[in-house]
Amino acid sequence: MTVSGKKEARNPRGQDDRCAGAERSGTATLIVDGLTKRYAGRGREVVALEDVSLELEPGTFSVLQGPSGSGKTTLLLSAGGLLSPDEGRVFVEGHDLYTLSGGAMAEVRARCIGFVFQQFHLVPYLTVFDNVLLPEIAHKQRRLAGRAAELLATFRLDGRADHYPSELSTGERQRVALARALLGRPALLLADEPTGNLDDHNAGIILECLDDFVRAGGTVLMATHGAHRDGRDAVYMIEQGRIVTVNGK
Ligand SMILES: Nc1ncnc2c1ncn2[C@@H]1O[C@H](COP(=O)(O)OP(=O)(O)OP(=O)(O)O)[C@@H](O)[C@H]1O
Ligand SMILES: [Mg+2]
Repeated sequence: MTVSGKKEARNPRGQDDRCAGAERSGTATLIVDGLTKRYAGRGREVVALEDVSLELEPGTFSVLQGPSGSGKTTLLLSAGGLLSPDEGRVFVEGHDLYTLSGGAMAEVRARCIGFVFQQFHLVPYLTVFDNVLLPEIAHKQRRLAGRAAELLATFRLDGRADHYPSELSTGERQRVALARALLGRPALLLADEPTGNLDDHNAGIILECLDDFVRAGGTVLMATHGAHRDGRDAVYMIEQGRIVTVNGK
């Protein structure tokens, strides 16, 4: 299965199609630098992340593991520009995310980042096809209709384009969510337990797709509770908001 359609050297977006206007040199797709995030709880502050740093290069697949409540989702949301940290910085393809204006941040998110949520977040009243095209439809465009069709074929969903999410199996819904995340050829894919609700067969399909994305030069950071296949580039173990080991050390 090939997610990108063709193999491209070190960058799934293509050499001429990189996120423009990067403010920082260097090759890392994602740099998380000293991230701290506190939630104001009911009478008690929760420190969800404490001084977390990591750096991911293009063409790498990294895994984030840790117990429930350890901060995995908080880290992914912060890395994806969806949750402002209290301290620290996040660079995606050289863009210092939280220094950007709302519009510029939205642009970088749309152009550089794909996000797969554990609960899919499909829109129930849109067809499979329009769910994949959602990032475009939000801007009243359908330029990427061809790519959406190509992704549906890649994910073996071409026969289901006119169906609604409620008519799909759980594994099929997650594949739609992954196709949507890949629509804009992001450099960085953040996946929050994308196989958490799936049986081994469907989990295998998703992991194969993510592997293809990485082989084509993409960068993946995936949170998971469960076992992951050997051979990942890095395994970050997080406990109580801190990275405690990287690759077991
Ligand atoms: N909106 C919020 N308000 C207050 N506390 C929150 C909020 N969101 C998360 N937390 C707390 O922050 C901590 C980290 O939560 P997070 O969702 O990042 O954990 P997680 O590792 O993704 O857990 P899980 O494996 O269960 O998905 C937890 O203690 C959680 O209760
Ligand atoms: Mg979580």
